[in-house]
Amino acid sequence: MITKSVEDYLEAIYNLIEKKGYARTIDIANHLKIRSTSVTEMLQKLDKEGFIIYEKYRGIKLTSKGEEIAKSVKKRHEILARFLEILGVEREIAEEDACSIEHSVHPETMERLSKFVEFVSSAPKDPKWLEHFEHYVRTGEHPECE
Ligand code: FE2
Repeated sequence: MITKSVEDYLEAIYNLIEKKGYARTIDIANHLKIRSTSVTEMLQKLDKEGFIIYEKYRGIKLTSKGEEIAKSVKKRHEILARFLEILGVEREIAEEDACSIEHSVHPETMERLSKFVEFVSSAPKDPKWLEHFEHYVRTGEHPECE
């Protein structure tokens, strides 16, 4: 079953491999702030369910099934973090919140969020309405419209 925790592990392993070229139990434990012994248990479970290949002293690899899930979580994470940043949320908080929201967003919502982020990012100029929103956050008032 693909639980929130399975998604978190696969995402962490994917990110570690991408960044360092490998993922060790200790790195995963640090990354997820979980004790190494619990990580080992979960890795054995993930191996059994076909998400990773886990050989105790040789590191961890994602199977194609595991990698597919990791990539999909990472994509959701990036879109959510970007969306929160557009709203003006500080990067660190946006990253943290993206990680907790990413597991439970409906695909339809994700699709709209993705289009929204794309729409804002590809705008030829900084969107006026976004400046208006900033003004509203600061002052509580809508700016005068010409
Ligand atoms: Fe995440």
